Amino acid sequence: GFMKKKVNILCVGLDNSGKTTIINSLNPNKVDNGMIVPTIGFSIETFSKSKLNLTVIDMSGQGRYRDLWEHYYVDVDAVIFVVDSSDKIRTCVAKDELEQMLNHKDLKKRKIPILFFANKNDIEDSMSVADCSNALGLNNVKTKNWYICSCNGLTGDGILTGFNWLIGIIK
Ligand code: GTP
Ligand code: MG
Repeated sequence: GFMKKKVNILCVGLDNSGKTTIINSLNPNKVDNGMIVPTIGFSIETFSKSKLNLTVIDMSGQGRYRDLWEHYYVDVDAVIFVVDSSDKIRTCVAKDELEQMLNHKDLKKRKIPILFFANKNDIEDSMSVADCSNALGLNNVKTKNWYICSCNGLTGDGILTGFNWLIGIIK
């Protein structure tokens, strides 16, 4: 038969960056009722896209829960890292979290794909993709296959561009 490939995707990034908003917009089982609340701990979502059965682990980005991220590194096939492009003050915190993740023993030696969303591109004075990329130091990330794209979690604009890149790499 035609077994769909099972893929684990870990979604991380600081609190309020828009992770749950983006994951929900990709999930055909979710209705958009505009009622997204900050994630407590994490939330596991399963849905299929093209020939893949996806399990997306939507982590909380709040400081007190960030220690949970690393427990999922060992099993992960791909990472989605969401950045709030309007939150210039905290890009250094996001960069720090990214570096910790990339240097973690369970991810360090694996060439998994990482999709970066520079989210909230609707907000005036938000950073461009190039600015976000520089702020995160992505040009120094040579051990991973990464891609960054600008998006708007509320309208969905740009999300499929990034997601299709990820799906294409995994397949
Ligand atoms: P935690 O679960 O706390 O880690 O946050 P999160 O990253 O899951 O963020 P969430 O999806 O809960 O979104 C945080 C807030 O940002 C919500 O009020 C969203 O409606 C809003 N938001 C998400 N994407 C966008 C966007 O593209 N533009 C704007 N203006 N607001 C957005
Ligand atoms: Mg959330």
